[in-house]
Amino acid sequence: MKLPPQQVAVLEAASADEPRRIADLAAEIERPPETVTGAAFELEDAGLVDVVEETEEEVELTEEGREYAEDGLPEVRLYEAALDAGADDEPVSMGEVIGTSGLEGPQVDIALSNYARKGYGSIDSGDLAADPDADPSEDAEAAALETLAAGGAVEADDALDQLARRDLVAVTERTVRSVLLTEAGVTELMAGVESAEEVGQLTPDMLASGEWRDAEFADYNVEADAGEHTPGKTHVLRQASERVKEVLVGMGFQEMEGPHVDADFYINDCLFMPQDHPARNHWDRFALEQPEKIDELPEDLVERVERAHREGVGPDGDGYHSPWDEDFARALALRGHTTSLTARYLSGVAGEDVEPPARYFSVEKAYRNDTLDATHLLEFFQIEGWVMAEDLSVRDLMGTFREFYSQFGITDIEFKPTYNPYTEPSFELFGRHPETGELIEIGNSGIFRPEMLEPLGVEADVMAWGLALERLLMLVTGFEDIRDVHGTLCDLEFLRDAEVVY
Ligand code: PHE
Repeated sequence: MKLPPQQVAVLEAASADEPRRIADLAAEIERPPETVTGAAFELEDAGLVDVVEETEEEVELTEEGREYAEDGLPEVRLYEAALDAGADDEPVSMGEVIGTSGLEGPQVDIALSNYARKGYGSIDSGDLAADPDADPSEDAEAAALETLAAGGAVEADDALDQLARRDLVAVTERTVRSVLLTEAGVTELMAGVESAEEVGQLTPDMLASGEWRDAEFADYNVEADAGEHTPGKTHVLRQASERVKEVLVGMGFQEMEGPHVDADFYINDCLFMPQDHPARNHWDRFALEQPEKIDELPEDLVERVERAHREGVGPDGDGYHSPWDEDFARALALRGHTTSLTARYLSGVAGEDVEPPARYFSVEKAYRNDTLDATHLLEFFQIEGWVMAEDLSVRDLMGTFREFYSQFGITDIEFKPTYNPYTEPSFELFGRHPETGELIEIGNSGIFRPEMLEPLGVEADVMAWGLALERLLMLVTGFEDIRDVHGTLCDLEFLRDAEVVY
C-alpha cells in the first residue's frame, strides 16, 4: 500500500497495544503536531487507526498563587506570627499579631478567613489564639502550591479544589488525542506500506514541464485544529448604529448633526420646557463651566419662544405665568437628549427652513447624570427622529415604530401614554427582553404641541421620538446589562461574538 510519507511515519510509530499521544508521536517522528494530527485523521478515515480523544485538566498557578508559593500562604504566615507572639499559650490581640506578620492589604482578610477553617487556631472578640498542635508542614494547600510551583503535577483533590476556589490556581481543559492501530492497520503494516511522494506545492516548473499530470497531490486537511483568531472588529453598538441609520435612510429619513454641548435654549426652552421645571434645576445635568454661556441666540426666535412661555400661543393660549430669563436659557450643558438637534432643525438655525413633507433623524450621544445600573449609563446613544407633514396622527406614529422595529425582528412593541411638556399626546414605548421576558422601556415619543412649533415657525404637524440604541440592541442580542457593552466591565466574549446582521 502506498501512503503519503507523514502517514507512513505515524502508522509505523503507532501501536496496537496502547494509544500513543499525538505529542509523543510528533516528537518521535520529528514532525509538527498539526501534521501528525492531520495524518492521524486521514489514517482514521482509511480505517487504519483510531483517534482517541480525552479531555485533560491543566493546572496553572495564578499570579497570586505564585506569590504565595514564594512567601507562604497568608494564614500560615499569620500562624507563624501568632506563635512568635506566644498565642499558643494565651490569646494575643489580633492587631498585634497582624502587625508583626508582615501581611498587608487584602492578604489580612484572606489570612483571617482561612485561619480558623484550617485549624490554625481561633479568633474571638479581637484576640487570636494559636493551636500548638497545628503543623504548617502538613498544610495540604501549601504542599500542592509548592509542588505546582516546582513544575510538578498534583492529583485532583480537596486541596486543589480549595486553591481553585481561592483563585490561586487556574484549571483549564484541553483535548488530548492519541492514536491506536486498528486490526486493519496492523494487517497493512505487515503487508508493507510505502511512501508515495506527494506534492504539497504546485510550482510553475511543474506546470511548464507537464509533470503535474502524474503528480500525487497532498490533500488539504480541512479538519486540522486551527488557532482561534480574534481580530479587531466593529463594536456591536457601532454595528447597531450603522444598521439603524441604514434602516432610517431606507425609510426616507435624512441625518441631522449638531453640537454635543448646547445652550439650554435648544435643549429645553425651544421644547416648551418651563424654566422652573424640576428637571431643569435638579435634573442631574452636566453643566459647562468654561464657557458657561452661549454667545448669541437669534433675537427674534428668543422673543417668540419667550412669548410662548409667558402667554402660550393662539387666541386661547395660556403660558406658564412663571419667570423666563434669557440668561438662564443661554447656559451651556451636555445635551440630555438629542431633541436639541430637532429644535435646531425645526427652527431653521441649523440651515435652511424645513418644508413639509420632511423626515429627519440622528443616532448620537445624549448625556445624563443618572445612577449607573443595568439599564442606565451616564451617556447613551439616542435614536432621534421626526416627521413633518400636513396631517399626522397617532396611527402614523405607531405605524412608523412598527415598521422601524420590525426591521430588527421586533414585532411586539407596546405603547403607554405618558406626559412630555412638548408633545401631546405622548407615548412611551416598551419591548420584551428576549431572555428575562421583562418589559423594558425603549423610547419616548409624541406629536409636538403648538406651543413648541409655533415659535419655531413650523406650520405643519410634527411627530417625533427619542429611542435608546442600547435598549434596541438588548432586545436584538439578549444581553442583560448595559455595562456588558460599555466600559471596563464589558463582556469581551459577548463583544467578540455579537453581530448585528439582518
Ligand atoms: N426627548 C425625549 C427623551 O429624551 C424623547 C422625545 C423626543 C419625546 C421627541 C418626544 C418627542 O426621552
